[in-house]
Amino acid sequence: MARAGKVTVVGAGFYGSMTAMRLAEYDMFSEVVLTDVVEGKAEGLALDMNQSRPIEAFETALVGVSTTEDGSGYDATAGSDIVVITAGLPRKPGMSRMDLIETNARIVRGVVENIATRSPEAVLVVVSNPLDEMTALTRLVSGFPESRVIGQAGMLDTARFSYFVAQELGVPVGSVRTLTLGSHGDTMVPVPSACTVAIEGVDRPLTELMGEEKISELVVRTRNGGAEIVALLKTGSAYFAPSAAAARMVRAVAEDSGAVLPVCAWVDGQYGISGVYLGVEAELGAGGVRRVVERDLTAAELAGLRAAAEAVRAKQADVTTL
Ligand code: 2OP
Repeated sequence: MARAGKVTVVGAGFYGSMTAMRLAEYDMFSEVVLTDVVEGKAEGLALDMNQSRPIEAFETALVGVSTTEDGSGYDATAGSDIVVITAGLPRKPGMSRMDLIETNARIVRGVVENIATRSPEAVLVVVSNPLDEMTALTRLVSGFPESRVIGQAGMLDTARFSYFVAQELGVPVGSVRTLTLGSHGDTMVPVPSACTVAIEGVDRPLTELMGEEKISELVVRTRNGGAEIVALLKTGSAYFAPSAAAARMVRAVAEDSGAVLPVCAWVDGQYGISGVYLGVEAELGAGGVRRVVERDLTAAELAGLRAAAEAVRAKQADVTTL
């Protein structure tokens, strides 16, 4: 099997290391570089992951490297085709993603300065929180075209929504299609009008299978999906589903697949919204976002999306000075 391409994952916490592991197990890249500011952590994890290769039968090499703020170590990331930025702190119980904004903006800014100069053609996939704001900051600091900077949130939120629907109806997760747009936070906009469940091969609207009250309950649980896990874990936040989502985005870019996925992308006129990073559906390819895909929304969903855009726009303006 021909392997090609170099992917860097910045941050060897649970989210970053799990993402690196998933990417390596796809066995399609030449190299996956994992970095961390904790001396020896990325090297140790990469060594452990490499030792799983004979068992899991994949040849993608993992390279771990310790980095410092002044840029040492970053040369190992040079020439990456795709860089996943997981750097920053996760939430603690009771915190909102927005509580991380100042600390994570400082960390993400430093990372992006070091990454962008060494991989000037890369597609950047941001997962640090607060997601929409860190994606906007990454685009600003990198100076890359908007199409080459995307954030991961919609795939995760959508997966959570799908799981809750499947669990509620007692159907396979694979039969459920759901969608969330908007922000990765309080102004997340689950889109029931786009949700279907395949029953005996026929897609049925979710609204036919579940009452409004139950859908609202699942929407709220989806919106609080990250916080529910943070509260249970006590330290750290979710990483199995988040890393699955980030790795799939990387794969869509690497394969130039044209897959339409819910991601945080630059919106420029779609839905009557302009000049903001927002959760929308986008077609992904080798250059990042090929195009934002618009779909018909109900009046309430569209109003929710526009409200999310304004909330996120205000916060994205704040990060420019952080
Ligand atoms: C979550 O929602 C990590 O923000 C991420 O779990």
